[in-house]
Amino acid sequence: MRPDLVGVVTGAGSGLGRATAELLLERGARVAGWDVSEDGVKWLSDTGSGLAAVVDVTDPDQVAAAAQEVREAWGPVDFLVNSAGVFVLGSLAEIEPAEVRRLFDINVIGTTLVTQALLPDLIATGGAVINLSSTVALKPSVSNAHYAASKAAIAQLTRCWALELAPRGVRVNAVAPGPTNTPLFAAAGMDPAAAEEFLAQRASTIPLGRTGEPAEVARWITRFIDDEWVTGHVLPVDGGTSIS
Ligand SMILES: NC(=O)c1ccc[n+]([C@@H]2O[C@H](COP(=O)([O-])OP(=O)(O)OC[C@H]3O[C@@H](n4cnc5c(N)ncnc54)[C@H](O)[C@@H]3O)[C@@H](O)[C@H]2O)c1
Repeated sequence: MRPDLVGVVTGAGSGLGRATAELLLERGARVAGWDVSEDGVKWLSDTGSGLAAVVDVTDPDQVAAAAQEVREAWGPVDFLVNSAGVFVLGSLAEIEPAEVRRLFDINVIGTTLVTQALLPDLIATGGAVINLSSTVALKPSVSNAHYAASKAAIAQLTRCWALELAPRGVRVNAVAPGPTNTPLFAAAGMDPAAAEEFLAQRASTIPLGRTGEPAEVARWITRFIDDEWVTGHVLPVDGGTSIS
């Protein structure tokens, strides 16, 4: 990867966003990490080389201000990783409409707002967008239908944006992780024991026999920054879940 690339990672305060930001920093990129959690994203400013900002991706004013801050510090961005997201469990009979709205607001509209705000930069640099879809977008599962639908929306936005933006030189790809050991499930309100049991139950269904680690997913996310002749791809990184 060119060492002087500039980029934004949303959801950099935890899990896959943090692992991706760490890997990019190691490779010499200049990384701005955005997260709604101030405590979560603080690690990045502590490194002395990253730019941390408290940003709610559903708020266009906060997104625009943070985008301007990055431009003023480093110039236009070369890559964007849309990792901010939330998980919701709930059957059709039980899920609350407000929860469905919050899920789509963060996972789908948030991804849209951030990509829109950075689009002029990405066109100027011939940059790359990497979205976070999920195995559950590709393979139906019980009890998280709305989350799965939000991630299926991300998969299709990825393909459509790839086609729309190819003539402007911007590549758009997605990684579709299987169950990965991050705080995502605990953040959804599960107590730690229930989150652990949920992941253990999922692990038993994964062909490679275990859940993933954030660094294993981050490696594939960053590959899409490097590869210049790949666009519109939704890549499962899931221990074989999507083919089982
Ligand atoms: N962990 C998995 O098993 C898994 C599998 C498939 C897809 N994903 C996707 O990967 C992405 C990252 O998930 P993770 O596992 O790292 O979860 P995580 O909970 O560890 O990290 C998500 C981060 O997003 C931030 N965030 C939430 N709402 C936000 C908002 N409105 N604005 C800004 N930041 C916000 C959180 O504060 C958190 O730091 C999500 O989009 C998730 O759907 C995760």
